[in-house]
Amino acid sequence: MGLDAALKAMDPALDSGGVVRDRAFREAHAIDESEASPVVPEAVVRPRSPTQVAAVLAACHRHGVPVTPRSGGTGRVGGAVPVPGGIVLSMEGMAELKGIEPDDLRVVAGPGRILGELHRAVEAEGLFYPPDPNSWESCRLGGNIAANAGGPRAFKYGVTRNWVLGLQIVTADGTILHVGKPTAKGVTGYDLASLVVGSEGTLAVVTEATLRLIPRPEAVATLLAFLPDERTLGDAIGAVLRARIVPRCLEFLDALALDILRPQAGLDVPGDAKAMLLVEVDGADRDIEQLAETTGSLLLDAGALDVLVAQNEAERERLWGARRQMSRSMRKRARHKLSEDVVVPRSRIGALLATCRRLQETHGVRMPTYGHAGDGNLHVNFLWDDPADRPRVQAAIRGLFEAVVELGGTLSGEHGIGILKAPYLPLEQSPALIALQERIKEVFDPRGVLNPGKIFPAGARRFHGAC
Ligand code: LAC
Ligand code: ZN
Repeated sequence: MGLDAALKAMDPALDSGGVVRDRAFREAHAIDESEASPVVPEAVVRPRSPTQVAAVLAACHRHGVPVTPRSGGTGRVGGAVPVPGGIVLSMEGMAELKGIEPDDLRVVAGPGRILGELHRAVEAEGLFYPPDPNSWESCRLGGNIAANAGGPRAFKYGVTRNWVLGLQIVTADGTILHVGKPTAKGVTGYDLASLVVGSEGTLAVVTEATLRLIPRPEAVATLLAFLPDERTLGDAIGAVLRARIVPRCLEFLDALALDILRPQAGLDVPGDAKAMLLVEVDGADRDIEQLAETTGSLLLDAGALDVLVAQNEAERERLWGARRQMSRSMRKRARHKLSEDVVVPRSRIGALLATCRRLQETHGVRMPTYGHAGDGNLHVNFLWDDPADRPRVQAAIRGLFEAVVELGGTLSGEHGIGILKAPYLPLEQSPALIALQERIKEVFDPRGVLNPGKIFPAGARRFHGAC
């Protein structure tokens, strides 16, 4: 059978313990942090080097065994869920930090590196790697690259793709390639590194990344503006930007999300606050106090009820700790949760929030909303307890996606399409565009063994039964 032949073919290349078939271990690799249906892989394969990855992929390619790469397993759309009969390729063991190069402002790291560890290592050298998905203490670089992860600091600093210089990758047939450039600039040939970033493990497996760094900003200040209503949000952001201040984060919480954050952050939240905007600025030591003061005045003038400034690092940490846990805290509020990460042009955020309120009324579903307001990227959540409510939730999600596309937006700003959003892709992309991408996938992976069933509706239906 294909699986046995593939495992036998890869075995000589792997270290002992490289193939795990223990049931409990396999079950631990059946699902990511999403609501997708778990699929237990036939084996979990743990490579230690690019040549081992190449041997695994070559064997699976030859014997037609589906391979789903996985690093931290913190994805939100089922991107790391294997397919029946397939294996999981766990990249956790390839976590080496191969070198921080201050003169070239770059770092080389393996896909298994935990992002928070990477942050701390480069910051200890006075350097900075800005992408900061809120799962940074558990997510790993390979998944960040696969999803083109964003995070709160994306407003000023951009997303993972903006920080990837070069990648070592292995394609489905086991060929090791270098894409992108390890230099600050480079335009030779097609930009295949950018194509691989965000391809959700469907085109190639990343075995090493060279990432761009910048000097670490000297000082940071965090402000919290409590707003009387959601309409004030646009005015508050507009006032800061018109003053030519570029915050690194502009994070929004609606009233329901604020209720969840309140007890954890120990904040003095005004009783009439209906929304919160977290604004974080960074810069030089000598400027930061003035910058925070000016920003605070602008927010008050724009209609904020109150503005708090985090007074020290411990306060900042407590606040961010509560914000970073928002997605997981929300999950505890109901038996079922689905979370979207839609994006609209920033000027349409008010319209998006009004749409959420309308859908909440129409479909009778709780929809707490928060996210990266500076990027027009909101996490619209759907919470429900009774499984019989699922069809109403699906109707509300479809209504949200239709409205987002109508507003000139996109279905996903940072989590990707995976399994869960695949059925909705045609709402945003034309049949010709989907077909072109499927042809690109075929060029990289002619036998369709690399993370099948993700992104495209037909594959998601075939491998995961997604409707
Ligand atoms: C966040 C994750 C869910 O922003 O993207 O909390
Ligand atoms: Zn987010």
